[in-house]
Amino acid sequence: MSNETKDANKAGLSRRNLLKVTAAGLLAGAAIPLLPYLGSTHSYASGTGRAKMLIIYYSLTGNTKYIAEQIRKKTGGDLFVIETVKTYPSEYSALTEEAKRELQTGDLPALKKNPPDMSSYDLVLVGSPVWWYTVSTPVMSFLRQADFAGKKVSAFCTHEGGIGKFFPHFKEQAKNAVVLEGLDLYKPRQARKGEVDKALDLWLSKLRGK
Ligand SMILES: Cc1cc2nc3c(=O)[nH]c(=O)nc-3n(C[C@H](O)[C@H](O)[C@H](O)COP(=O)(O)O)c2cc1C
Repeated sequence: MSNETKDANKAGLSRRNLLKVTAAGLLAGAAIPLLPYLGSTHSYASGTGRAKMLIIYYSLTGNTKYIAEQIRKKTGGDLFVIETVKTYPSEYSALTEEAKRELQTGDLPALKKNPPDMSSYDLVLVGSPVWWYTVSTPVMSFLRQADFAGKKVSAFCTHEGGIGKFFPHFKEQAKNAVVLEGLDLYKPRQARKGEVDKALDLWLSKLRGK
């Protein structure tokens, strides 16, 4: 067993545990990896022309960043990166413990920047990794500060098979947002060629109401 696997096992976040949760989530109709989440949604009809889009994301190990950049390439939207003041531990077990502590205590990480001015955007996309079956604590921190003031907002997440309550929690925390259909992507950088592209195109076309 590799040190990384041992660490993950110690932290109670082994791949096997994640897969168990995924199976439970699937049974509860919570998620289908790489297919859009079909929770309570509204369709986004932008009418003619392209909606002006803001893509906000947090990414620790690059997966969510990869998706955010794909979306930017496809839509020409603007990017806003959520960054924490502190540096998370690079060692996996310490990292998962730190994230668990933040979640349990509500001691969310301070961010480098305040939320951007969203007034000129028609649609705001918010990307996060799944941490402990929910929204990552840096994105929770962002949501604590942001007020979407009636904006159309959609979340996307990357994960390793257990999205748990990510979308319902996002919806609860996105203040004053009209939350549209989200998208979850399972290990996007390891997906078959074209698969991520297809999922993104389908999701974006639904959001645009085409
Ligand atoms: C602290 C922590 C907790 C995680 N918890 C989960 C989880 O509950 N379910 C899951 O499927 N993946 C979980 N993962 C894996 C990440 O969601 C996945 O690797 C994601 O794509 C990372 O995104 P990033 O590269 O943008 O940081 C966790 C990773 C970390 C670091």
